[in-house]
Amino acid sequence: MDTIGYGIVGTGYFGAELARIMKDQEGARIAAVLDPENAVQTAEELGCDVETDLEKLCARPDVDALIVATPNYLHRDPVLMAARYKKNVFCEKPIALSYKDCDQMVKAAQDSGIVFMAGHVMNFFNGVHKAKQLIHEGKIGRVLYCHAARNGWEEPQESISWKKIRAKSGGHLYHHIHELDCIQFIMGPATEVTMTGGNVAHSGPRFGDEDDMLLISMEFGNNTYAFMEYGSAFHWPEHYLMIQGTEGAIRIDMANVKMTLKHADGTEEYFLVHESREEDDDRTRIYNGLEMDGAIMYGHPGKKPPMWLHSIMKKEMKFFNGIMHGEEASEEYKPLLTGEAARAAIATADAATLSLREDRKVKVEEIKG
Ligand SMILES: NC(=O)c1ccc[n+]([C@@H]2O[C@H](COP(=O)([O-])OP(=O)(O)OC[C@H]3O[C@@H](n4cnc5c(N)ncnc54)[C@H](O)[C@@H]3O)[C@@H](O)[C@H]2O)c1
Repeated sequence: MDTIGYGIVGTGYFGAELARIMKDQEGARIAAVLDPENAVQTAEELGCDVETDLEKLCARPDVDALIVATPNYLHRDPVLMAARYKKNVFCEKPIALSYKDCDQMVKAAQDSGIVFMAGHVMNFFNGVHKAKQLIHEGKIGRVLYCHAARNGWEEPQESISWKKIRAKSGGHLYHHIHELDCIQFIMGPATEVTMTGGNVAHSGPRFGDEDDMLLISMEFGNNTYAFMEYGSAFHWPEHYLMIQGTEGAIRIDMANVKMTLKHADGTEEYFLVHESREEDDDRTRIYNGLEMDGAIMYGHPGKKPPMWLHSIMKKEMKFFNGIMHGEEASEEYKPLLTGEAARAAIATADAATLSLREDRKVKVEEIKG
């Protein structure tokens, strides 16, 4: 098997762990890392080079693909540079903070013929894959409605992470694009969106400037709808995706971790959300502890992600490395490999943002215009 050389851009909490995981994959080596703050320690640990210039990293003959895990507002330039040098790219979510940027990235990837995989991890959850399969088999009939909630309560912060700054993270909706993406994988792209909310309880110097309560209503045509709640102004934390069909319903609970299929006669079947009961229970424990606010994962390069997240990251890196070695993706995962699903999610998020700003319902087509 040929060896694929990876360049890592951004080796903070997530990027450093993605690099460690990728290093252990068959036929993979980490060629170099680039990070203004954390590159040296990661390079020492991984036994690879440090690069300080993005273009030089992309030009290296031993770099076949980039893994981009910079803060959200810094994803675009590395992806465009990768496309310029015809290097494949895995980019963390959200791929960018506007439809315009996403479109530029997707088109650059298409023009250069590279793989442009979005790190939408929820697609690798056992439970999400199972839900799609059950829907495909007609187990809940026609999908009428999805409801997602991802919320918690934020206490005053010691220092303000970029994850709390709207211009850097996009705020809750963009930073946690997972649920929106997942709903669109199930229901297709939203056509119209209305968002209300704002910063209702977290103003002041010990908070960022993002909105802490976002309530989003989505329409898909054919009398099908979705509703999402995001934020850190909720003292009763919830994290779930519910899918209501004509003949049953599915609930993927990511706080009290469990997946339930409810049949029309009221009977229920249960499935794992992650890979094992141990992982599901570990996630339940974390969500019921004090470590979360609106389900944001804080960390630093040495911090280990929780068991369930680590195993999803492994699945994701194994998948990307497999694609780099010529494996064929199933139909389910193909939209993840071009940036198109990620761009569609941001189009809807932009429509929601415009709706809030202008206090009106917005057609997603307006954004793509
Ligand atoms: N899928 C998930 O569940 C999940 C979880 C956590 C983070 N993430 C994503 O991973 C990305 C990184 O998040 P994180 O938690 O590791 O944040 P982090 O702040 O821990 O790490 C970001 C790193 O990027 C570096 N950086 C800043 N500017 C840079 C630049 N111009 N070039 C190269 N590196 C630069 C910083 O020095 C830092 O080391 C984000 O996009 C985030 O949304 C995804």
